[in-house]
Amino acid sequence: MSDFRLCVLVSGGGTNLQAIMDRIDDGSLSGIVISRVISNNPDAYALERAKKAGIEAVCVSRRDYPDAAAFNSALLSAIKESEPSLVVLAGFLVVLPREVIREFEGRIINIHPSLIPSFCGKGYYGLFVHEAALKRGVKVTGATVHIVDEGTDTGPILIQKPVMVKEGDTPEILQRRVMEEAEWIILPEAIRKMADAEEGREN
Ligand code: GRF
Repeated sequence: MSDFRLCVLVSGGGTNLQAIMDRIDDGSLSGIVISRVISNNPDAYALERAKKAGIEAVCVSRRDYPDAAAFNSALLSAIKESEPSLVVLAGFLVVLPREVIREFEGRIINIHPSLIPSFCGKGYYGLFVHEAALKRGVKVTGATVHIVDEGTDTGPILIQKPVMVKEGDTPEILQRRVMEEAEWIILPEAIRKMADAEEGREN
């Protein structure tokens, strides 16, 4: 079986990207390679993580394009060039252009730091998600990996993992626990699941 190729889209620190890289290195994600990492943010530490690992790291920044259409086209091209089996949104904070979703329909997954349908949709990203969970007073939160469709956090759910909220949690403490106990576990698991499903289709 030829390698199952990932194009990973990032915007920030890249801890989810790192989790994928670590599982590839330890053999949990055998037969899977990261063909390209793309960030919309030139300062994303995720790009440094990719470069250190010898993975092609590309920045497609909206500031470098005259309008949204040009940016969308450049992002689509950058993804297509990497010939991915799967596109992984790992802390990617840009609304994915419709042309990308259509080109890779059913082959884009996203990690969201809550148990969808709670605390998701427009405006719910990063720390805002955990602030909302703490404000609502939920006792259990977690993370979700879902297929990306043209909505916001609305595609079919692949994997979820619960995380307990603790007394005294701040948004930062809760975010870290959700990353450690859920995101960094279920995103590689979801990739394995998608790769196995594709292999099943091929055989
Ligand atoms: C974090 O808020 C994480 O919960 C979400 O995206 C943000 C950045 O994560 N998935 P990362 O460290 O860049 O992977």
